[in-house]
Amino acid sequence: MRRLIRWVIVLAICLGAALFITRPRFAAPNLLDGLVADPARGSVVFAAMGCASCHMAENDSTPDDLPGGRQFVSDFGTFIAPNISPDPTYGIGAWSDLEIATAVLHGTSPRGQHLYPAFPYSSYARTTPQDIVDLIGHLRSLPPQAEPNAPHQVGFPFNIRAALGGWKLLFAGSGWVLQGNLTETEQRGRYLVEGLGHCAECHTPRNLLGGLKRSKWLTGATNPSGKGRIPGITLDQLDWSDADVIAYLTTGFTPDFDSVGGSMAEVVDNLSQLPRSDIEAIVAYLRRVPTR
Ligand code: HEC
Ligand code: HEC
Repeated sequence: MRRLIRWVIVLAICLGAALFITRPRFAAPNLLDGLVADPARGSVVFAAMGCASCHMAENDSTPDDLPGGRQFVSDFGTFIAPNISPDPTYGIGAWSDLEIATAVLHGTSPRGQHLYPAFPYSSYARTTPQDIVDLIGHLRSLPPQAEPNAPHQVGFPFNIRAALGGWKLLFAGSGWVLQGNLTETEQRGRYLVEGLGHCAECHTPRNLLGGLKRSKWLTGATNPSGKGRIPGITLDQLDWSDADVIAYLTTGFTPDFDSVGGSMAEVVDNLSQLPRSDIEAIVAYLRRVPTR
């Protein structure tokens, strides 16, 4: 039944996309004008955004090497991360800054194709232009990798990229989830959690079409790999002190000295490179998110 409902919705979206022609979005031509890249700052942005967790080689964990090849299982098929090293032939070395910004912010390729949301651009859409410029400066400083991309293993109708226009219309690129009066620290935390850190992509349940359920924000989700559940991280659900959460996010140890596992281990590797004030901001934000 779930499958059938999904099919009907997907076909409707394909039709809708064909009828209303959902044109891919590009970054504004002047978005990056006048901004100068600071690659050192960019390496922290890169860590916060977790690009390496997906674009490193399958059996290598050198965050400077981004040849792609890791597989991401989903309800819609298996996606294989592409090469995003500066290699001009196999990677993105020949892309302009604006083309890279367009991919990260809007999930649009230089040829105007929609990219799959397995690449969390719907969270990254919130990234500031300065952070994008610094990120690109860092990416361009990394070693080129001569590794060809592998095709995704995705069946009909999900292999029709044009239909992703409908998906984006429904789920991508809207404003903040946590609204209201936030302190400066909480706003920084919101930027890191809802934007760069894309925490919700794992910790929030999805609807039949793979869109995040905003009404169940960060309350936990099934693990797409099929193994168990990803825990909720709204803090009234967790019963940890601020210091406990900070320790976990930077060292990977829980209050009872368990150590972090699964895909969160790489998130912790990344977060440990952020300044302490950013980790405190993440915790301040999580304290504000209600459990429903
Ligand atoms: C959760 C995993 C994941 C994360 C995190 C991630 N990506 Fe990706 N990325 C992917 C997948 C999967 C694709 C393939 C999408 C497609 O083909 O439609 C992709 C595609 C891309 C592309 C398009 C490449 C091409 O040849 O078409 C670029 C550029 C890119 N990612 C850059 C980045 C950057 C920069 C970051 C960090 C800011 C990042 N990615 C973070 C999984 C990820
Ligand atoms: C790629 C998926 C993924 C992303 C992205 C992710 N997490 Fe996690 N997170 C997990 C998994 C899986 C676990 C469970 C780890 C385990 O079993 O040891 C977890 C566990 C946690 C826990 C411990 C909860 C508990 O009850 O043990 C916290 C806190 C947490 N994550 C916070 C975050 C924050 C904050 C972010 C964003 C900066 C984030 N996570 C991003 C997958 C992810």
